[in-house]
Amino acid sequence: MPDVQFLRLDELSEAELYDAYAPPEEDWLRVNFVTSADGAATLEGLSGPLSGEADKRVFKVLRAGCDVLLAGSGTVLAEGYGPLTLSPERVAWRSERGLPEEPVMAVASRSARLDPESGLFEQAPRRPIVICAADAAVGHMESLREIADVVAVGHGEIDYRAALGVLRERGLRQVLCEGGPRVFGELIAADLVDELCLTVSPLLVGAGPIRAAEGRASEAARRLRLRHVIEAEGNLILRYLRG
Ligand SMILES: NC(=O)c1ccc[n+]([C@@H]2O[C@H](COP(=O)([O-])OP(=O)(O)OC[C@H]3O[C@@H](n4cnc5c(N)ncnc54)[C@H](OP(=O)(O)O)[C@@H]3O)[C@@H](O)[C@H]2O)c1
Repeated sequence: MPDVQFLRLDELSEAELYDAYAPPEEDWLRVNFVTSADGAATLEGLSGPLSGEADKRVFKVLRAGCDVLLAGSGTVLAEGYGPLTLSPERVAWRSERGLPEEPVMAVASRSARLDPESGLFEQAPRRPIVICAADAAVGHMESLREIADVVAVGHGEIDYRAALGVLRERGLRQVLCEGGPRVFGELIAADLVDELCLTVSPLLVGAGPIRAAEGRASEAARRLRLRHVIEAEGNLILRYLRG
């Protein structure tokens, strides 16, 4: 098999698309992002205008395959995340493989300053997880404990390596991170990223927006290996694995 596969999305069946994203190992952290061709991670403050039907098709396949979906507080607020539910077809796909109907939602917030009454928590089909720093305000943690499991790891900053350890102990081994940039920056700095799924959309956005990774600087650049390139409506849908 060649090292890099070149595919066209409109020629892939749903089963082939799932196969193209089969995780290589049982413990796996995959990050999914969309950027413009010039590297912007937002347009008008959101990822949606960078995305399109092709990116969304892959996005849904990735969601269906994970045990836990991790996103930072900045992302769930900006993007208006609701309860994590899947279409009946994706639920059926998971059930056939012995997986629970939906993945668990995990929100990373250093401060644990999240609204426990938001739909993401109140209407969640599975009890969500909040990952925060151990020195987050006790009051914030207590109010969240009513509707979520609170995992407090690290002082001042979230210790993502420890957080991943807790997820894995709970059997949540396939982790899909949908950002945002500051959480991604932390994961790169801690060398925890096994895979990057990156959609490059055919747009020039220009200066201003943040890039896919922000916040903490990484001591070293991490090498990646390109696994496949899917072309769809001018988008490049790239799958990189840890090098
Ligand atoms: N293009 C894409 O694919 C894509 C994907 C995701 C998001 N986005 C965009 O990215 C933007 C949000 O970016 P973001 O970076 O603010 O969001 P983020 O990474 O989702 O969340 C940042 C939040 O995570 C918490 N956090 C945990 N550890 C942290 C640390 N060590 N340093 C800093 N913060 C830490 C903080 O929470 P507390 O403040 O709660 O303490 C912080 O506010 C939105 O505009 C969204 O649309 C784009």
